[in-house]
Amino acid sequence: MKFRVLGSGAGGGYPQWNCNCSNCNRLRNGQINAVSRTQSSIAVSTDERNWVLFNASPDIRTQIENFPAIQPKTGIRDTGIKAVILIDSQIDHTTGLLILRESNSPLEIYCSEMVRQDLTTGFPVLKMLEDYCGVNHHRIPLDGSSFEIPGINDLRFHSHSLKSKAPPYSPHRHDPHDGDNIGVTIEQISTGKKLYYSPGLGEIEAHVQKAMEDADCLLVDGTFWRQNEMEHAGISKKTAREMGHMSQSGENGMLSVLNKLPNKRRVLIHINNTNPILDQDSEERQILTEAGIEVAQDGMEIDL
Ligand code: MLT
Ligand code: MN
Ligand code: ZN
Repeated sequence: MKFRVLGSGAGGGYPQWNCNCSNCNRLRNGQINAVSRTQSSIAVSTDERNWVLFNASPDIRTQIENFPAIQPKTGIRDTGIKAVILIDSQIDHTTGLLILRESNSPLEIYCSEMVRQDLTTGFPVLKMLEDYCGVNHHRIPLDGSSFEIPGINDLRFHSHSLKSKAPPYSPHRHDPHDGDNIGVTIEQISTGKKLYYSPGLGEIEAHVQKAMEDADCLLVDGTFWRQNEMEHAGISKKTAREMGHMSQSGENGMLSVLNKLPNKRRVLIHINNTNPILDQDSEERQILTEAGIEVAQDGMEIDL
């Protein structure tokens, strides 16, 4: 299978429109060894023509323009996007659905029941789309069973509930439910190769650890380096944990988890604009490089 990182940034992207933090400011002024990043999304395919989109970012229009394989090929209206899997209902993962409204067939959307509820109440985009292209909703099972997607050859998807956060607009932001956020293992049936994708991960529960051990490649939450990174940047008092994300550093941070899983490709994704690892010359980035951990950037492609 092949996957393409369409957007490697967290909500807001990098630089964020109103942000003057050191990373954003230095990027605008050409004073940092870093590249800009659009908001969080990947695409996966086995034939490089039929793609599953994971999350629909507000930057999807630019992401498609930068990726010929997914662009129209035949007929007056066409797309390589055959289905969309939503791992949560966050703004940075779902507003791109509005950009896809010109589709000439209903969008095939796979999400959990909790995500469907958010997207028909707090942010009723699935209802709004009924008056445009329409939506075929498919409920993602969270009971350990796998599912396949018609038109997507040779891939099987397994997902599980995670501890992270429903979005601020969600009626159950402070009342967590299974399925508010999910992690997905994407398995190529013919080869048995597995990619584990989880851009919003608040805690490594036993089933998450197992999925990570079983995968050949990990594409996991790289939002924050430190728990108090937002406060440190003078932006907000919210900790990474309060926002549903693990930090990379710290005793139980993502680094300590990944360091115990050395024999696979390990890539951080959904990088917030405050994160020092965006600076390729930073000490923090050096720590990752020495540990053999990669940092996703837009346009990165991996063949598994
Ligand atoms: C998150 O994952 O916490 C989001 O990026 C926040 C947001 O979209 O504002
Ligand atoms: Mn996000
Ligand atoms: Zn910033």
